[in-house]
Amino acid sequence: MSINRKALRKAVKRAVEKLFQEAVDKAVGILKQGGLVALPTETVYGLAADAKNPEAVAKVFAVKGRPSNHPLIVHMGSKEELNEWATDIPEVAWKLAETFWPGPLTLLLRRKPEVPASIVGGHETIALRVPSHPLTLAVLQAFKGGLVAPSANTFGRLSPTRAEHVEQDLQDKVDWVLDGGPCDIGIESTILDLSCTPPAIVRPGGLSAKALAEVLGFLPQESLNAPAAPGSLPAHYAPRTPLLLAEPEELEARAAKLCAQGKKVAVVHTQKITLPENAQWVCLPEDLSQCAHELYALLHELDKQQLDVVLASLPPADGLGSALRDRLVRAANAHTPQVL
Ligand code: TXA
Ligand code: MG
Repeated sequence: MSINRKALRKAVKRAVEKLFQEAVDKAVGILKQGGLVALPTETVYGLAADAKNPEAVAKVFAVKGRPSNHPLIVHMGSKEELNEWATDIPEVAWKLAETFWPGPLTLLLRRKPEVPASIVGGHETIALRVPSHPLTLAVLQAFKGGLVAPSANTFGRLSPTRAEHVEQDLQDKVDWVLDGGPCDIGIESTILDLSCTPPAIVRPGGLSAKALAEVLGFLPQESLNAPAAPGSLPAHYAPRTPLLLAEPEELEARAAKLCAQGKKVAVVHTQKITLPENAQWVCLPEDLSQCAHELYALLHELDKQQLDVVLASLPPADGLGSALRDRLVRAANAHTPQVL
């Protein structure tokens, strides 16, 4: 029997569209009833709930074990929804939204007085973004309202970049994990504070300062006065296995010392180096986008092995590299005292 290729392609497309729509409908149904759905975004998986349902928002805090004064990002289906949440929106916010949304940029703006206090943790600002993963964007547009979505991990732990990371951490505590495949970018969004002058980056992330500079007209600096928030705690994004960091040229000596102490070590670096026999080399891509795409998945993977320590090299502090260094340093801070 000959198969009509064109008809086959059409049938496959229809089947994919049907599955896509079923997934979107299921997610929206759960969210409308106040449930929690882990949703894929281009940065990391988020734990989504109806931003206007205080009980659903409270569940997000409870499931993550997150302190209630740490504010949440509200995810929207379009930039026009900015008006629902923020006030005194400067012209540059619209320009940034036009250029970078949907995408890995979160804007901090003055909140409207009616925004529930539970979302903003007592702050006068609100964090807003439009994510670009097609499934989540479709969920947001069908939901017709904001969804809070912190990274879908227990407070303080590594962010999930694959559905199975969420399942391993929060499986029994969420109503559904929508598997949208591995996250493209793999590192959280850049948070830009537009409520201060000049605008400042309060969390480096998936969008570089250089890219922002093209719209802002100046290179935004990282703010040292960021309000106390999970992403700005010195120890955060932590794997279970202690993580040590070193400049590339120090790696060999550090690895040799750890192995001599009888430690089971994995060395994460872009190039193969001379290592003691019992140390394992794990390759991290040199290209910074690739590196961001793989870093958390790799740390999740290493956490499954019974290692005493992971020794990782620091990427150059350039573009995405500054976000990668930020996450690595915070992840390492969680364990340093135990391994020194
Ligand atoms: O890429 C991302 O941003 C992911 C995906 C799921 O969208 N979300 C994410 O959310 O990383 P979360 O909650 O894990 O981190 C949000 C960060 C926290 O450091 C929080 O304190 C900060 O944003 N934040 C939220 N609202 C804020 C506000 N009003 N003022 C200052 N910081 C705020
Ligand atoms: Mg987080």
